Amino acid sequence: MLEVKQLDAGYGALRVLHDVDLRVEAGEVVAVVGSNGAGKTTLLRAINGIVSPTAGSVEIDGRNVTGKPTERMAGFGMTHVPENRLCFPSLTVRDNLDLGAWSRRGSKGELEPVLELFPRLRPRLQQVCGTLSGGEQQMVAIGRGLMADPKVIILDEPSVGLAPKVVAEIMGVMTQLAERGLAVLLVEQNVRASFKIADRAVVMQRGRVVVEGVPAELIEMPEVRAAYLGGAAAA
Ligand SMILES: Nc1ncnc2c1ncn2[C@@H]1O[C@H](COP(=O)(O)OP(=O)(O)O)[C@@H](O)[C@H]1O
Ligand SMILES: [Mg+2]
Repeated sequence: MLEVKQLDAGYGALRVLHDVDLRVEAGEVVAVVGSNGAGKTTLLRAINGIVSPTAGSVEIDGRNVTGKPTERMAGFGMTHVPENRLCFPSLTVRDNLDLGAWSRRGSKGELEPVLELFPRLRPRLQQVCGTLSGGEQQMVAIGRGLMADPKVIILDEPSVGLAPKVVAEIMGVMTQLAERGLAVLLVEQNVRASFKIADRAVVMQRGRVVVEGVPAELIEMPEVRAAYLGGAAAA
């Protein structure tokens, strides 16, 4: 569903990503872990067209979308949930969610499937986003992305700064999205939480994929231990 081949990208003269290969099938959660500065955020930006790749390719469902403008990616079936749980603080939850539906092929996004995933949002639809807890704001950010009815969702550290119980809730949603047939690419510093639910995982170091495999095997490897130590992995 999502296929990344030999991707290179960076900022001006700074080359950050080197030759990154990655694939996520429909119905699968793939976790990307690595310490601070490893290039995880840059990878998601390059996949989503915020940063233009200098080499390699990105395909969604067999369609080459490499370097397409980011505002078109939702139309190709990809949603990016960036770091820092972006929600428009003075808009209601309902309006925040509706904003995610603009790119949808049909007229209006469907709220009900999003509220089934995030039941906490149902009684808060008329509340302004700025007054929600951090976890609820993250749910709005993810929910907004889902309103576009994507086939691929890529998320940048959705669990940062949240209580363990809320982290578990968000991870549970990742599993449910995969069960609904989405391809889920999850960047996380929380190795423990993401490895519990991921089908496969990759470890990045200095802009490269250094290991790839099944979480239960990876967790024993020195490279993964390094990623643990590099970030706030305890939870
Ligand atoms: N907007 C930017 N301009 C220049 N360099 C950047 C920018 N964003 C990130 N970098 C650099 O790219 C490298 C990878 O960063 P990033 O992708 O944010 O890593 P991670 O998300 O794994 O912490 C770092 O060396 C960082 O300093
Ligand atoms: Mg990052």
